[in-house]
Amino acid sequence: MRTLSLLLMLLVLVLVACGNQADAGNASIPDPADIGNPDTGRQIFSEWHGEAPACSTCHTIDGTASVGPSLKGITSRAGRQVDGMDAVAYLHESIVDPNAFVADGKAQSVMYKHFGEVLTEEQIRDLIAYLLMLE
Ligand code: HEC
Repeated sequence: MRTLSLLLMLLVLVLVACGNQADAGNASIPDPADIGNPDTGRQIFSEWHGEAPACSTCHTIDGTASVGPSLKGITSRAGRQVDGMDAVAYLHESIVDPNAFVADGKAQSVMYKHFGEVLTEEQIRDLIAYLLMLE
């Protein structure tokens, strides 16, 4: 009997530990509002900025592939694409330096390369906040 209750206690401890781990995983995806303004980000996503094309010319958010991958569900894969890079860092890099990691497996990204110069840091953060809402 004693062994059984000990085993049960152990099981509970293991389950609790696993539960905490799952929480820690979710915590790595921050609240979009802490990063920027998702509503402004949504606008930036579908507007041209001078010669820089709108993100929506190449990306859908409904799962259909276009010139680039659909950004539906980007939040769940963003933190896993590159070792040691969390979702926000990965999204930031994807926007300002598309060739650092080429998501569609091609040698060179055809994504427009100069968003880092065309958009302000605040606009990039608003975009990231918007992308984080696309579960
Ligand atoms: C000219 C077409 C084009 C435009 C415009 C464009 N992208 Fe991309 N994007 C791509 C392609 C192609 C890829 C896949 C190759 C790569 O990773 O760069 C990509 C990849 C990405 C990824 C990584 C996707 C993944 O599955 O990991 C993100 C995030 C992204 N783009 C966001 C944006 C945002 C935000 C904008 C607007 C500021 C934008 N893109 C504008 C073509 C484009």
